[in-house]
Amino acid sequence: MDRVIIFDTTLRDGEQAAGGMLNTQEKLGIARQLEKLGVDVIEAGFPVSSPGDFEAVKLIAQEVRKPVICALARAHPKDIDRAWEAIKEAAHSRIHVFLSASDIHRIHQLKKSRDEILHTSREMVARAKQYTDDVEFSPMDASRTEPKYIFQILEAVIDAGATTLNIPDTVGYAIHDEFGRLIEGIFQNVPNINQAVVSVHCHNDLGLAVANSLESVRQGARQIECTINGIGERAGNASLEEIVMAVKTRRDFFNLTTNINTAQIYKTSRLVSELTGFLVQPNKAIVGANAFAHESGVHQDGVIKMPITYEIMDPRTVGIPASSLVLGKLSGRHAFKERLAELGYSLSEEDFNRSFLAFKELADKKKRVTDRDIESLVAEEQRTVSETYRLDRIQVSCGDRGIPTASVRLRAPDGQILADAALGTGPVDAVCKAINRLLGIPSELTEFTVKSVTEGIDAIGEVLIRIDSGGITYTGRGADTDIIVASAKAYINALNRLLAAKKASG
Ligand code: KIV
Ligand code: ZN
Repeated sequence: MDRVIIFDTTLRDGEQAAGGMLNTQEKLGIARQLEKLGVDVIEAGFPVSSPGDFEAVKLIAQEVRKPVICALARAHPKDIDRAWEAIKEAAHSRIHVFLSASDIHRIHQLKKSRDEILHTSREMVARAKQYTDDVEFSPMDASRTEPKYIFQILEAVIDAGATTLNIPDTVGYAIHDEFGRLIEGIFQNVPNINQAVVSVHCHNDLGLAVANSLESVRQGARQIECTINGIGERAGNASLEEIVMAVKTRRDFFNLTTNINTAQIYKTSRLVSELTGFLVQPNKAIVGANAFAHESGVHQDGVIKMPITYEIMDPRTVGIPASSLVLGKLSGRHAFKERLAELGYSLSEEDFNRSFLAFKELADKKKRVTDRDIESLVAEEQRTVSETYRLDRIQVSCGDRGIPTASVRLRAPDGQILADAALGTGPVDAVCKAINRLLGIPSELTEFTVKSVTEGIDAIGEVLIRIDSGGITYTGRGADTDIIVASAKAYINALNRLLAAKKASG
């Protein structure tokens, strides 16, 4: 059976999305999970864009050995040289060169003639080819470019050594039938097309990214560029999980396969959401909280009698454990360990012990500890272990008469205890002000979101905070059954990340 190459650009186009700031270790963590998921290509970043991006791509190239590690470059010699510098130690490397092709971009942005674009595309592919055999080329804004001109560019870059030709619907303008015809036209009009793989890269501005990608494979494209949870510029990119599960669930229709280990989808989705701070909407296909929940009585009746009545996919296929077993305060180490394994975690002894203690504490406060509670608890433990400053104690008083007051104790890296108190307009404001008095790190809070992990009055609250320092956004997260405590943890987490980034950049 024919296979579609899955090219994941979560760490490049996904990270480009506003506020998606990930640090190097987090990018490496995602890349390792993408390797477990079985993606064929990881676009790890855009090395020339910043020293941080360069370092992250380099580290991923050194550490993640199975997939092809791809670096993005504009059609400039400096970009291509820098891309190669970042990926040269990869087991399998690819340079992805892009240059706008549409008249709209050419005239208004680049101010270059068609001949100049054609010439530069060819020259820069040839330059990348001196470094690696695996070279991808994208004529940006292809869906708004005259097809004849695209055919001409593609023929030239294949001639110069491009092995993958990526057709981007950069602004998410295409309609699937029209985009499919463009792909079909490429196969009919580019004489040397059989020397390269045709790829597509669709944005979701009209909500059509997945549909356009799937239509393209019907027309012969064999690589799809996509991101976990569909994150990316503006309305995002085509969602990896939707594409993979469409191809798998409708194998009868597509007659295609992928290398993806679908049982890792849910875990990857949670990790990306957790680290980027981009929440997954509840009704999101495949990975949303309600994707496999049946509310209507008629549907529930059907699913109990025979799941296939209303379920086209088994939730276990994407790694959502089917078990409805709920843990509680009488559950022991063994039950907790088994649950973790079913959720796809393999923790070190030390991490397990810490998570088990946190589980016991939670089970004392909360009668039923669900899978989502466990995921949130493990994430919280993993977050705090690498923190410079940690929350030691917190006391808040508030109400409609008194002045909100917070006293906070932090543990510094040398074990020293720092304590102070502050007044605020509300309890969270008082907490942040007390922490600011202790750490004195200049920053501005730009976003504050609270969400409950499960339903019920005793649910864990997850807080996401973004702060801005010198034009850079840092995201912090915290979880606790008390949302003021969760807010304090999230704020400290954001400040710790700011400190770590400042330290790393010297
Ligand atoms: O959307 C786009 O055109 C891109 C290119 C760099 C492939 O992201
Ligand atoms: Zn893009």
